[in-house]
Amino acid sequence: MYTETVMDHFRNPRNVGHMENADGVGQVGNVKCGDIMKIYLKINDEIIEDVKFETFGCGSAIASSSMATELIKGKSIDEAVELSNKAVIEALGGLPPVKVHCSVLAEQAIKSALYDYAQKTNKTIKGLENFNPEDEEEFGCH
Ligand code: FES
Repeated sequence: MYTETVMDHFRNPRNVGHMENADGVGQVGNVKCGDIMKIYLKINDEIIEDVKFETFGCGSAIASSSMATELIKGKSIDEAVELSNKAVIEALGGLPPVKVHCSVLAEQAIKSALYDYAQKTNKTIKGLENFNPEDEEEFGCH
């Protein structure tokens, strides 16, 4: 049911933990399953220098957070904002259809952290103009 990569990222998640003085913090929750994901970003010169996550959720949410953080580490803000849940699923080698929303949570948590960074630094990030961190519809189980 789960790929080796999913199991690996679930058992040995990368970039787990809390970050002091993060430049951007994003937290999203799925109203239906109750899972919560928090992403911390350290940004320097528009580059994601470091990223950490704390996820209270299912195995797929943990694997998705782990993979998503790996995919944006060292990347530019513009690249990070474009990370889609599809790219996370692809990198994981697939997720069962009922678990797709877990990867959406990872995409949204990153966007939310980037949005927080933009708010704090008074910047506009292309692709986040219409982002609304309060929009729970986005995070519903599909
Ligand atoms: Fe809710 Fe996976 S079941 S995030």
